[in-house]
Amino acid sequence: MADRTFYLTTPIYYVNARPHLGHSYATIAADAMCRYRRLRGDRVYFLTGTDEHGERIAQVAAAAGMTPPAYADQISRAFRETWQRLGITNDDFIRTTEPRHAKVVQAILQKLYDAGEIYFGEYGGWYCYGCERFYTEKEIVDGKCPDHQTALTFIKEKNYFFKMSKYQDWLIKHLEDNPGFIQPERYRNEVLGFLREPLQDLSISRPKARLQWGIPLPFDDQYVTYVWFDALINYVSALEYPDGALYKDFWPHAEHLIGKDILKPHGVYWPTMLKAAGIPLYKRLDVHGYWTIGGGKMSKSVGNVVEAFELTDKYGHDAFRYFLLREMNFGLDASFSEEALVGRLNADLANDLGNLASRATTMIVNFGGGRVPSPGPETDEDAVVRAALARAALDVDEAMEEFAFQRALSAIWEFLGVVNRYVDATAPWALAKDPSKRGRLDTVLYALAESLRATGILIEPFLPEAAGKIRAAVGGAPARLSDLAWGRLAPGTAVHKVSGLFPRIEPDKSSTGAAKIPMADFAKVELRVAEVLAAERLPKSKKLLKLTVKVGDETRTVVAGIAEQYEPGSLVGRKVVIVANLQPATLMGVESNGMVLAAEHEGTLALLTLDKDVPPGSQVK
Ligand code: MSP
Repeated sequence: MADRTFYLTTPIYYVNARPHLGHSYATIAADAMCRYRRLRGDRVYFLTGTDEHGERIAQVAAAAGMTPPAYADQISRAFRETWQRLGITNDDFIRTTEPRHAKVVQAILQKLYDAGEIYFGEYGGWYCYGCERFYTEKEIVDGKCPDHQTALTFIKEKNYFFKMSKYQDWLIKHLEDNPGFIQPERYRNEVLGFLREPLQDLSISRPKARLQWGIPLPFDDQYVTYVWFDALINYVSALEYPDGALYKDFWPHAEHLIGKDILKPHGVYWPTMLKAAGIPLYKRLDVHGYWTIGGGKMSKSVGNVVEAFELTDKYGHDAFRYFLLREMNFGLDASFSEEALVGRLNADLANDLGNLASRATTMIVNFGGGRVPSPGPETDEDAVVRAALARAALDVDEAMEEFAFQRALSAIWEFLGVVNRYVDATAPWALAKDPSKRGRLDTVLYALAESLRATGILIEPFLPEAAGKIRAAVGGAPARLSDLAWGRLAPGTAVHKVSGLFPRIEPDKSSTGAAKIPMADFAKVELRVAEVLAAERLPKSKKLLKLTVKVGDETRTVVAGIAEQYEPGSLVGRKVVIVANLQPATLMGVESNGMVLAAEHEGTLALLTLDKDVPPGSQVK
């Protein structure tokens, strides 16, 4: 990416409903992108805000028994506070009811009127109040709005029209000459699809006799501005078009992030408006798909609303953010569920990331005296980690160019996988037992510290809170992509333990623990003391040990997932507790007859052993 200046906008949200998951996604995605660009050292301006005029707002305000301004104030504040709580790093928050915005809308209207781009005429058509736009015969499905599935209203009235139709060929050519103007490509094709039909002129006013709640037309005080014409202009009014320093600096680098539902206004109305007003076009439109719940579209006007906060507060902002960015393939629809969120939290965050951070820092503290050691010569094993980081950094950059958050995250997780395997393969706990391996141990601990430091930089756009904690644990350097280069971490840097980054969530359990069961159910479980006679690793697994145990007179095989924390040799002769009456299960080709019990806390396992000697086979109750 050569462009080092970046201006990114979100849609400005209608104030007819409180913020929900769909809005949160757009704002979080924009925030992740802006954080990434700042991490690269780019100059960034990030705008969001609220869209406050129009019939829809006037209707809901009336239904709530409030004036439109009072209603808009309340909801706009809810959006602003929501973004603050989510840690969104927007530089400005524009409201279309602000004088700074109205002034620019009127200036642009006047300019277009003076240039003969606007005329007075009559139009009759089918209007959707949900979308605040007319639908053409071709777009109407079963007499209803295809988006809202509600009845349309036939409206015929005299209005001012923008001569949009005359820009049809120009816009087609622009899209053909600039394949990257709208991405992903499917949406560019969709706009080209709209443009295969004759483009109508755009009604840009509403008579005051019917609607008061809007910006008055500067050339006719009997009319207010159509809400889309008003709203789109926020992207330049916030920069103080035409003379503001922000406008001059940032407008040439503008990208708009939008949902697919508002493709037509952004992909057709807005470029033609800009062209007619003599304003250079935005650089790119980045279009995301829809979150669905149980297969249906989720939006405030259709009902089925999910308050973003319910889940962010329950699982944490980072986890919520991560889920949204990881789960949606940018441009396509995705399905939201709490179970899927918990699944990602446990697997990707608690396990892959949280465990690694806790294990690596614990080992540096325990085996390295809490300081980053000086590394010795690099082996092939270490080089793999270094190369994986370089690969991840490149892949992330490529993915972010296309707003492909899901790919950026999977690239980072590839790297975490390499580091996790490196820990298993180098087994620092074993090296620590052998003084002659001190040099090797130092090299491994250095690589772990360096990997964590890099992780604290790479995940910053996606998991800002966790990134801050990880960086603080390994020296506390600020996050900069240019510091990713391997070897920047000075030996001697103090390291402290990271724990509880992402506690595992046990699904379907109350906060006080597991669901209560009757005593009779527990009595079905047969727990017995078992003595370990032999233990060996299963060749294909990093987690599993094959244990041969004695239970009374019987000898049996039990497979246990403890290989990462227990050396096979250290177990022989020990007495453990097993579930003795489980149905056999085959794990990695070995039949297991029972299950070894261990406690788990933040990735640390503790085997259940006995504090007095009793013979193997004794019952545990
Ligand atoms: N006010 C207009 C935008 C004007 S921009 C000049 C508007 N507002 S909105 O509040 O109804 O929706 C704003 C955006 O929220 C949508 O474009 C979309 O990006 C996002 N979403 C609303 N529901 C959504 C989902 N269910 N899923 C994903 N995003 C959705 O339209």
